[in-house]
Amino acid sequence: MGKLYALTSDEVTALEKENQELVRSLAGECMVVLENDGTLPLKKEERTVALYGSGARHTVKGGTGSGDVNSREVINIYEGLKAEGFDVVSEDWLDEYDKILSDAESKYMDDVNKKAQEKHVPPIMIMFSTPFVSPDENLITDVKDTDVAIYVISRNSGEGADRFNVKKDYELDDAEIANIKFLAENYKKTIVLLNTGAVIDTKPLRNTEGINAVMIVGQMGNIGGNIVADVLTGKSVPSGKLTDTWAENYSDYPSSETFSHNNGNVDDEYYTEGIYVGYRYFDTFGIKPAYSFGYGKGYTEFAYEVKDVTADEKKVNVSVEVTNTGSEYAGREVIQVYVTAPEGAIEKPFKELRGFAKTSLLEPGQKETVTVSFDTVSMASYDITRAAYVLEKGEYIVRAGNSSDNVTAAAVLSLDNDVVTVQCKNLFGLDEAVDEIHAPKREKEDASGLKHIELSSALFVTEKIEYQENRPVLEDKRSGEKLTMDDVHEGRATLEELVAQLSLEEMAQLCVGLYDKSASNVVGSASGSVVGAAGETVGIPDRKIIPTINADGPAGLRLQPHFKVAKDGKILPGGEVFGMSVNPFPEDTPEDAIDYYQYCTAIPIASTLAQSWDMDLIEKMGHLVGKEMQQFHIHLWLAPGMNIHRNPLCGRNFEYYSEDPLVSGSCAAADTKGVQSFEGQGTTIKHFAANSQEDNRMYNNAHVSERTMREIYLRGFEIAVKTSQPLSVMTSYNLINGIHSANNKDLLQGALRDEWGFKGFVMTDWFSSQDARSIGLAPENVKYDCASSPACIEAGNDVQMPGCKQNVDDIISGVNEGRISLGDVQFCAGNILGVVAQCK
Ligand code: BGC
Repeated sequence: MGKLYALTSDEVTALEKENQELVRSLAGECMVVLENDGTLPLKKEERTVALYGSGARHTVKGGTGSGDVNSREVINIYEGLKAEGFDVVSEDWLDEYDKILSDAESKYMDDVNKKAQEKHVPPIMIMFSTPFVSPDENLITDVKDTDVAIYVISRNSGEGADRFNVKKDYELDDAEIANIKFLAENYKKTIVLLNTGAVIDTKPLRNTEGINAVMIVGQMGNIGGNIVADVLTGKSVPSGKLTDTWAENYSDYPSSETFSHNNGNVDDEYYTEGIYVGYRYFDTFGIKPAYSFGYGKGYTEFAYEVKDVTADEKKVNVSVEVTNTGSEYAGREVIQVYVTAPEGAIEKPFKELRGFAKTSLLEPGQKETVTVSFDTVSMASYDITRAAYVLEKGEYIVRAGNSSDNVTAAAVLSLDNDVVTVQCKNLFGLDEAVDEIHAPKREKEDASGLKHIELSSALFVTEKIEYQENRPVLEDKRSGEKLTMDDVHEGRATLEELVAQLSLEEMAQLCVGLYDKSASNVVGSASGSVVGAAGETVGIPDRKIIPTINADGPAGLRLQPHFKVAKDGKILPGGEVFGMSVNPFPEDTPEDAIDYYQYCTAIPIASTLAQSWDMDLIEKMGHLVGKEMQQFHIHLWLAPGMNIHRNPLCGRNFEYYSEDPLVSGSCAAADTKGVQSFEGQGTTIKHFAANSQEDNRMYNNAHVSERTMREIYLRGFEIAVKTSQPLSVMTSYNLINGIHSANNKDLLQGALRDEWGFKGFVMTDWFSSQDARSIGLAPENVKYDCASSPACIEAGNDVQMPGCKQNVDDIISGVNEGRISLGDVQFCAGNILGVVAQCK
């Protein structure tokens, strides 16, 4: 066992307090008011409430699986309201529901444990594939003596399983609808709160008369109840905007028919909607959503006026004056700039988000001018025939507004000729034809009344990418010495010289994350020196190479909160927590064992954070996590997750930001900046790439066109890498056009390193290069095989996490038998050591 950084006292620490205060002061900004007739915020005299719904006392703090952060306690909405002095008059209903839920949970855990024993796998594996489904709520039958009713709808999901378009999941169930209807009919004011991490069906809410306010409170971490209470009373102002399109019907989403289990095929996923994901689809095909991307009301009203648009070959700048036109409440507005690009040879969505900015808190009557700026070349589209990003000649209409449905055309940029902005090569050849949908040609828009700005094609510079083909073998020029990392730190040797000296065996070990653990080594329990960290890279003590210690997120730091250590220093079994699965300390735990504690802050989940559209806020959250990483000695945070919300049913959408790559990339970059403001700490942006589905997540083949890959599924990662240089990237489990991401050299070398300049190391997602079927992590009857260990090395996937001895042997024999080159292994080892050199 290495040095322990956990605390030996379970007193609430100053850092915990400080971090919770910070979350409390910020998180209200993430909530999105969908409807409000003036009921919210509640007036001072409205402190007696009838509180109902599964989420009232069982508020979901974040999703399940590796994204579930083990905090000290969770303040639910009931407790949050009580702490603010509310009188909750529906205790009888809440007590009855507690009982119904606890019975259902015990039954579920009994079933899980039984199945786990039968299958000889840890219970968490069963929980991943068959998540808990909440029981039917008790019906509300009496009216309490108050005017205000609050109903909390909760939904939970997590890794390993996608959601379903059924009652209790995407849809509300009969009891929920009946209860909401009862409240709406019997109370003067009915408020519905959505404690969800992803889109649900809001039709029943819109069809029920008498609902006065609907707010997405999201999933806010361990003090969610306090945050909700602050927002309901107006102490905090909700200023969130949707980062997804909330459709009228699930079937309106273009991938709904075939997504995941919907068509019974979880092996192959054909991305036939192409670039038309989210609002790009709804907008272009004229489908009206229930609530559009970018929408959110707040407690006040705003007016906005475009003051000026300027543009040249470098930047487009849009200045917008925003006025709080309300008379009672302060608020913040998000100005969004969308561009309609000309349709030449390349088909274009009707409009795409190119930039956004949020005002500061404006009091009634107060004004502020915000300027949204973005790179002119970011308006380019990928042309597969030219293997290049191209700005086509013609008119670019710049629109500004406060949601994708409420924009005003502000200016026209006229480009005289086509410009190749980046000359690439095509990297993602399709393995099977994907019949992508196409939009009808648009009529030319009359833009004559708008400000015209000429852009001269001659002024643009084309960036030409040089792709690295072979990796040279490094010669050991200091063979008489034994170099160590200390020599590198102290300037006596270069990193290359150290790598050149490593034996093939040493490098093979470095490239395979910690593997010599017991069979119970499942996600979340691999690390030795930081208990509950998800894994470590391997250290080589006689070369002074330390391991990097890696812990999950993204909604905080996931560690084991309480563990025991015997007098001889051995970490004792028990105490692991994975959501509902708790392993008690065994009876024979020695009495003199020492208790250790690692309580971390559960911050709002990614999809809730993104709704703030406030990159400073997200950077502060990253900084907060960074402090806890420092306290508990974590080098790499296995977060943020930044896959695109292709379909609302993806089980892990809560861990990801948005359907839009600009939002997703900006959020991940902000989070990274926060974490990486501490020396020797980094983020691991994941899951690279196209990890849109959880059913059969390890062996699903995403068939995606080159343009769609680049403009939708890679763009966010590109933004995050170019603007924040995360220390690490985690590949996704899935295949892309027949090749596992973990084995895809075009993805990891061509796009990530050659095109975007990534400098850190790449790791696989857990067990990617092992047959997960044989360790109970994947179903038996799947079509595709697992990723290969030598192919990870060839691809530049530097570390296989957590690997197995076979992975090491396969690398060594791969080189010895000439199947992979020594230069490739040295390249991976060099990338790892480049990061290790920055860690302490
Ligand atoms: C998840 C990753 C996570 C890893 C380690 C995997 O199952 O997909 O997101 O970081 O486990 O816990």
